[in-house]
Amino acid sequence: YPPERIRNFSIIAHVDHGKSTLADRLLELTGTIKRGHGQPQYLDKLQVERERGITVKAQTATMFHKYNLQGSSLDGSNEPQPFLLNLIDTPGHVDFSYEVSRSLAACQGALLVVDAAQGVQAQTVANFYLAFESNLTIIPVINKIDQPTADPDRIKDQLKSMFDLEPSDCLLTSAKTGQGLEHVLPAVIERIPPPPGEGSGLLRMLLLDSYYDEYKGVICHVAVVDGMLRKGDKISAAATGQTYDVLDVGFMHPELTQTGVLLTGQVGYVVTGMRSTKEARIGDTLFHAKTIVKPLPGFKAARHMVFSGLFPADGSDFEALNHAIERLTCNDASVSVTKESSTALGLGFRCGFLGLLHMDVFISDLNKEYGTHIISTVPTVPYIFEYSDGSKVEVQNPAALPSNSKQRVTASWEPTVLATIIIPILDSIDHVWCSQRAFMKYRLPLREIVVDFYNELKSITSGYASFDYEDSEYQQADLVKLDILLNGQAVDAMATIVHSLKAQRMGRELVDKLKKFIDRQMFEIIIQAAIGSKVVARETISAMRKNVLAKCYGGDITRKRKLLEKQKEGKKRMKRVGSVDIPQEAFHQLLKVS
Ligand code: GTP
Repeated sequence: YPPERIRNFSIIAHVDHGKSTLADRLLELTGTIKRGHGQPQYLDKLQVERERGITVKAQTATMFHKYNLQGSSLDGSNEPQPFLLNLIDTPGHVDFSYEVSRSLAACQGALLVVDAAQGVQAQTVANFYLAFESNLTIIPVINKIDQPTADPDRIKDQLKSMFDLEPSDCLLTSAKTGQGLEHVLPAVIERIPPPPGEGSGLLRMLLLDSYYDEYKGVICHVAVVDGMLRKGDKISAAATGQTYDVLDVGFMHPELTQTGVLLTGQVGYVVTGMRSTKEARIGDTLFHAKTIVKPLPGFKAARHMVFSGLFPADGSDFEALNHAIERLTCNDASVSVTKESSTALGLGFRCGFLGLLHMDVFISDLNKEYGTHIISTVPTVPYIFEYSDGSKVEVQNPAALPSNSKQRVTASWEPTVLATIIIPILDSIDHVWCSQRAFMKYRLPLREIVVDFYNELKSITSGYASFDYEDSEYQQADLVKLDILLNGQAVDAMATIVHSLKAQRMGRELVDKLKKFIDRQMFEIIIQAAIGSKVVARETISAMRKNVLAKCYGGDITRKRKLLEKQKEGKKRMKRVGSVDIPQEAFHQLLKVS
């Protein structure tokens, strides 16, 4: 396949607009997978994706399709010619926008899928601009036209006014009924240009993705931009400087299919001796060892925007947790992990994530992998503090910020995001609903959206709002550390960094919440929230022995024993801080205060 017969494209869409279903249909149309193969949405491979119906990790597939493109036949005949179509899947969530932009860098075109009833949503906008900035040919696809509420003409107008996409260029499809799908691949072949690149030049490949396979080791997805790759070659990675032997090369069709070679413009997989996906940096340039090439543009190291401490609910399970985290990070090199020691929670880990969904997915996988409960501390964002001696530090863990330091904090900064929120304005006239959309852009502190923002937005708007965000700059903010003290002792795992104006209200909420969740104990417990030495909220839990045998008069010894056992069980799920037992639940509840 010469580059003229290759098309590299992506499908981009707002969540649920039908990206995976459309991808499946295209794979079926080209005979890449069998129709009704009993595993819908082939490209959404990971279990968690299936459970949540979102695409977290990109999967990519090569298809073959015969098409009669005017002037494409080499011998002048009028026969359909074989084309090699690479569908490069992109993750469907903002946390992974860097990975989306890397996948798009390997494409020349994109199908922009928009739901025929819902129209343009926040992620449609974000994804459109990512594709637009990568200079891709954009083919608008208005999908789900089988729905009774579908209104393709309205969506065409929207696409024209928002993105200047011509109504006549829009394809109308139903990935469900198959209507209009026959126009999709012809549009891909006719409108999207073939990949550029120097066939005879030095090898340059873009590393799109990687995963760990138990038998083969690390498998990298790559797009060959220039030159040619063969099995047996020696290649180097620009970002890490490491050199590897190419053990296996081929297409994803969609299963790994050995070809022994990848040519300019082709997309496929490479197996090298990499031990961990941490060595395979997404967006990195791979090239033949001992050659000098200019790395492909746009490589960035993963930037962690949300941090949380993860601790075994039972301190003795540290090794098991360690093992589970190691296993998971084998396949997700974008999580950063450092050991953390907390006086309240013992030994654990501080993990950094690309964003909220990324954190959620990781913790839920970890719970499954690890089997028992994990305590995760309130997520925090990376703040920057400047001290009176002029030094600046990035603080990823509130506990690491001294409460009473000799060094005075002279300034502080917090990360912000540029958020897009789209909500319909609904108007009812004689049961005829017409809807217009309000399109809002805000600059928000990242911290404000870390805790529950998305859920609240969805619930306030009955699910109609859509939301997306991109990283923006750091802005100066008046930040303080809010400590929680139990009987005068600070609980490090409960410390947070907050705006000074909000500190008092938050301190009050945290203290009230803790009062509800900490049982009375043999002695009085004083709960305080404090900024430095200034107490901003205080509650007292009076002393009382919880006598589980109180109701158990009479001499039924087995019943007595059962109750005592139960009390012991209950105690296991407690964390002792100083002399105070804190139930796990209290740590979880703290997450819900913002
Ligand atoms: P993410 O993977 O979360 O990004 O979503 P997606 O864009 O891949 O959407 P997906 O293909 O998972 O489809 C979402 C839902 O819409 C599924 O329940 C599909 O069955 C349904 N769906 C997809 N295409 C059509 C269509 O043309 N018509 C109708 N009525 N439903 C469709």
